[in-house]
Amino acid sequence: MKVLFATSELAPWVKTGGLGDVAAALPPALRRAGIDVRVLAPWYPAIARAFPNAVVIAELPAASGVFPGAALRSDIAPDGTSMLFLDCMACYMREGNPYLGADGRDWHDNAVRFGLLSYVAALLASSATPLDWRPDILHCHDWQTALAPVYLHYNLKPLAKSVLTIHNLAFQGLFGAHTLRELGLPQQAWAIDGVEYYGHLSFLKGGLQHADHITTVSPTYAREIQTDTDGMGMAGLLRYRADALTGILNGIDTEQWNPAIDPHLPTHYAGATLGNKSANKRALQMQMGLKHADDRPLFGVVSRLSGQKGLDLLLACADELVKLPAQLVVLGSGDAALEKAFRELAARHPGQIAVRIGFDEALAHLIEAGIDAFLMPSRFEPCGLNQMYSLRYGTPPIVRATGGLADTVVDAADKDRGNGFVFERAEPAELLAAVRRAASLWARPRLWRQLQKNGMAADHGWNQPAQEYIELYRSL
Ligand code: ADP
Ligand code: GLC
Repeated sequence: MKVLFATSELAPWVKTGGLGDVAAALPPALRRAGIDVRVLAPWYPAIARAFPNAVVIAELPAASGVFPGAALRSDIAPDGTSMLFLDCMACYMREGNPYLGADGRDWHDNAVRFGLLSYVAALLASSATPLDWRPDILHCHDWQTALAPVYLHYNLKPLAKSVLTIHNLAFQGLFGAHTLRELGLPQQAWAIDGVEYYGHLSFLKGGLQHADHITTVSPTYAREIQTDTDGMGMAGLLRYRADALTGILNGIDTEQWNPAIDPHLPTHYAGATLGNKSANKRALQMQMGLKHADDRPLFGVVSRLSGQKGLDLLLACADELVKLPAQLVVLGSGDAALEKAFRELAARHPGQIAVRIGFDEALAHLIEAGIDAFLMPSRFEPCGLNQMYSLRYGTPPIVRATGGLADTVVDAADKDRGNGFVFERAEPAELLAAVRRAASLWARPRLWRQLQKNGMAADHGWNQPAQEYIELYRSL
């Protein structure tokens, strides 16, 4: 079976969140299971640097008559995955965040940039492909490639079935009505069963309408998005497509995230050597300017700073957290108001709360290993990867019962299976209560160790999810 995997992010080179991680880890897992998979991604500067030998295998002259000319390059990734890169200087040769300029605003031409990516993904899955390689399945991800099933419907003759995975329903790829022309879509696509969405053009809506199958990244999120409260305006459409909608829980990259060999950790450990974890706590306290204190738990956050992540709840109760006593370390970037609020919080509690604004892969690993418990009070969370990294690092997660968090974290109240702490409502008092429960269990090392071991025992690797995707591909 041949699968074309179309993505706008690819860890470690271009990543703004979990999509980049998934795009880097699921294709190799599919390959190990015998699937002939090729990953299509834009030729960004960071990719060009990482793959200097990628050769041009096809020219795409002004694709569909509306996009700028482009070329396809190919290479093999270090892990053996076959890569296809979409080389279009005018669209992708920009440093930094793939979606935003240095001013923090969306690139003005994102519709064309990701329209082209979608179009080429569709082209390679159609009778008009310039390649000999013909995929059976085109697997798209989020709004950035969601227009591919739309092109297969209106503009091209499909040779493959399409799957669209929703990683986050909050990003819908909304543009003005005039973009219909710029994207080379016919007038008939401007319809309730096309790309029209309350007077706008929505990439995601079009994809949800026309993909042969829709998946999202956890079973609970698959149910939540069909409700009017959590469906972000798409619930009706998702209910209409319920028979073609499945939740498949993400995996994590268990090589990159393994405390026994993680190159970012000063001291390695595993289930049998959990005692070594505390050396990482000391290293983290030192690096972040926290007081060296063994008598209190250290809580931590690694996150995009956005409303989704519920970190306003943490801001509202952090002064109380320090009094427990406890310490807090935060690594994140995003929303300017949240960045400022966290900086101010750290300034109020020198030595007890440390905040680093930025994106720092190495520090993210040290935090997972060095802290005692991980905080993820998300308002919604399609899957979430950090709680699974935390489980693997013997760092019980404290989460709100939503989406993939509800599917992976079991509250400590369950003596046999408990691996973290779960609270229901998005309120500071509920988060604080969970933090308190964690702090008191932390003070009872035998019980705490059981919690850590329960978390470390689970297999959250990609083999199982890859099998579920393969079954889905077969069924199509
Ligand atoms: P989302 O995709 O919604 O941001 P996930 O939990 O699925 O949430 O994935 C987030 C990924 O991005 C994780 O790999 C996490 O470690 C990483 N990450 C988020 N913020 C930062 C940061 N500031 N520095 C380093 N890594 C980060
Ligand atoms: C999104 C979601 C996150 C999920 C990730 C990968 O960014 O916010 O919950 O884990 O995609 O699927």
